[in-house]
Amino acid sequence: MKLLVINGPNLNMLGIREPDIYGKRTYGDLENYINSICNENMVEVEVYQSNHEGAIIDRIQQAYFDKIDGIVINPAAYTHTSVGILDALKAVSIPTVEVHLSNVNEREDFRKKSFVSLFAEKTICGLGFEGYKAAVEYLINRQ
Ligand code: DQA
Repeated sequence: MKLLVINGPNLNMLGIREPDIYGKRTYGDLENYINSICNENMVEVEVYQSNHEGAIIDRIQQAYFDKIDGIVINPAAYTHTSVGILDALKAVSIPTVEVHLSNVNEREDFRKKSFVSLFAEKTICGLGFEGYKAAVEYLINRQ
């Protein structure tokens, strides 16, 4: 099984950005955490991050040709704006779980709208790093 984890804009700033919301652990810590969960479950994984909407769309399209079995995506700010990312996910039609570190439903109103949710089989928010573990386990168990 091959998984692709995609993290959107500003998530590379974890540890620096708004630590009261996102915690003190860094993006490198998150990559290590995801890699270790996947290793424990003997699942191949690529962890990808970009600040650019088009690059994220390109990576989703590439997932089709790479025969990726499942996508975990935290589209970050693009969650609330990007029809392009939604359409790319629909185009490749790969089982997808949406993750947010924070509880987007308890923040500003604009964070309550998610385009990606219209395709994702499941949305996990407010669990911090643990949300990625729950997403990986969901994709393994649905196989
Ligand atoms: C986020 C929530 C988004 O609203 C925000 O723009 C982010 C991170 C989260 O993981 O909680 O950048 O996706």
